[in-house]
Amino acid sequence: MKKALFLTGLLFYILFSGTAFAQTNEETETDTAILKKIEQWKDLKFGLLMHWGTYSQWGIVESWSLCSEDEPWCLRKMKNYADYCKAYTKLKETFNPVRFDPEKWAEAAKYAGMKYVIFTTKHHDGFCMFDSHQTDYKITDVACPFHTNPRANVAKEIFNAFRAKGFLAGAYFSKPDWHSNDYWAEEWATPNRNVNYDIKKYPERWQRFCDFTYKQIEELMTGYGKLDILWLDGGWVNPKNGQDINIPKIAAMARRYQPGLLVVDREVPGKFENYRTPEQQVPDKPLDYPWETCMTMATSWSYVPGDIYKPAGKLIHTLIDIVAKGGNFLLNIGPSPEGEFADTAYSRLKEIGDWMKINSEAIYNSRPVAPYKTGKVALTRNPDGTVYALYMADSCENKIPSEIRIHGIQFPNSATVSLLGKKGNLKWNHCQDGICIMVPPADRKNPPCHYAWVFKIQDKNKGK
Ligand code: GLC
Repeated sequence: MKKALFLTGLLFYILFSGTAFAQTNEETETDTAILKKIEQWKDLKFGLLMHWGTYSQWGIVESWSLCSEDEPWCLRKMKNYADYCKAYTKLKETFNPVRFDPEKWAEAAKYAGMKYVIFTTKHHDGFCMFDSHQTDYKITDVACPFHTNPRANVAKEIFNAFRAKGFLAGAYFSKPDWHSNDYWAEEWATPNRNVNYDIKKYPERWQRFCDFTYKQIEELMTGYGKLDILWLDGGWVNPKNGQDINIPKIAAMARRYQPGLLVVDREVPGKFENYRTPEQQVPDKPLDYPWETCMTMATSWSYVPGDIYKPAGKLIHTLIDIVAKGGNFLLNIGPSPEGEFADTAYSRLKEIGDWMKINSEAIYNSRPVAPYKTGKVALTRNPDGTVYALYMADSCENKIPSEIRIHGIQFPNSATVSLLGKKGNLKWNHCQDGICIMVPPADRKNPPCHYAWVFKIQDKNKGK
């Protein structure tokens, strides 16, 4: 009996120990729907983030030009700040993305192998890309030309289009709102990104802001179908910073409508940051909690005409690097003011998809396996024990090397090795502290794909 209890406990520990790390402080999540969703989300590996708003019309940074911090990303073209803000706000009156076609985006993202989408329902500037009843600063307002379009509630259309193709859906929502008179009050200057009045002195005003935020999130949770992730940005709005919008209350409400919802209160470690989101970078090592790198496909989160896109090979290597360390890759594209992706974005998605078609079994549902990355080879492991060695080719390397050496990993003699996209087994042997795979000339000259070649290592004696 004691033994059975011990084994049950052990099984429970193995199943859930990974998720126990979801919380970076003493509070551990116990809601099984949330724990299950974290595991489900971890297996998806690859998602699409989109930053889209009225700022796209000027081809500038999202929101930040409204902020008076002396940072390079806050620069604006007009000198007079008051005039600038007026002109920025008026962008609502010209926003008319008539080429909006979310099915086309979803199709391209699906081909690339993406499995979830996060969309900016509201960025820091406060402009709602959904039909909020708490403000008229929104795409569905009569003063916005797009409001007559039957698909004007773009957040809803995007979530529906992606869900229809099997994606999980997530709402990016900015906690700070620079358009709200209860966050940036018009009586005072706005010296930086923070609330511009003393909350202790004006608690009613702050409470109004909290209620406004609560109601907007409630709208998103009730009128936009099934949502899996609430991705909260603007980490400086947090209790330690004196800006408490009562996330526990918001999360409880949100999960009443959306059981198991992941809440990602970015940069606020604790129970409401179900996973971490390193930005524009890949950690050096696997992390002991669920995580996702968010990164721009070009250089900017928002649409910038002529922006330089990362090469497909680089994006594929980044995906491999992240997955080998147990993370997810959330790759951002900024749609244009007309409602389209740049042609280059489509061609990158196509190239990633061509690679995934052959190699995705090394990506989805995989787990990290030591030594994770050795030289140009990254490793992943499937729950059934199959190990994949992903060789990341240099940009000028279009022939597979005759020998692939993988250090720091051992397999029994019974293991078989194959190259994804090719038939038959390859010869391999033990060498020094690892293994060495021999690639025959025919495969070398005629690789199954570009950018990275994947070797599948199976030990038939071990499980499946
Ligand atoms: C950065 C940007 C912000 C953007 C976010 C996405 O923090 O400043 O505008 O929304 O990255 O992760």
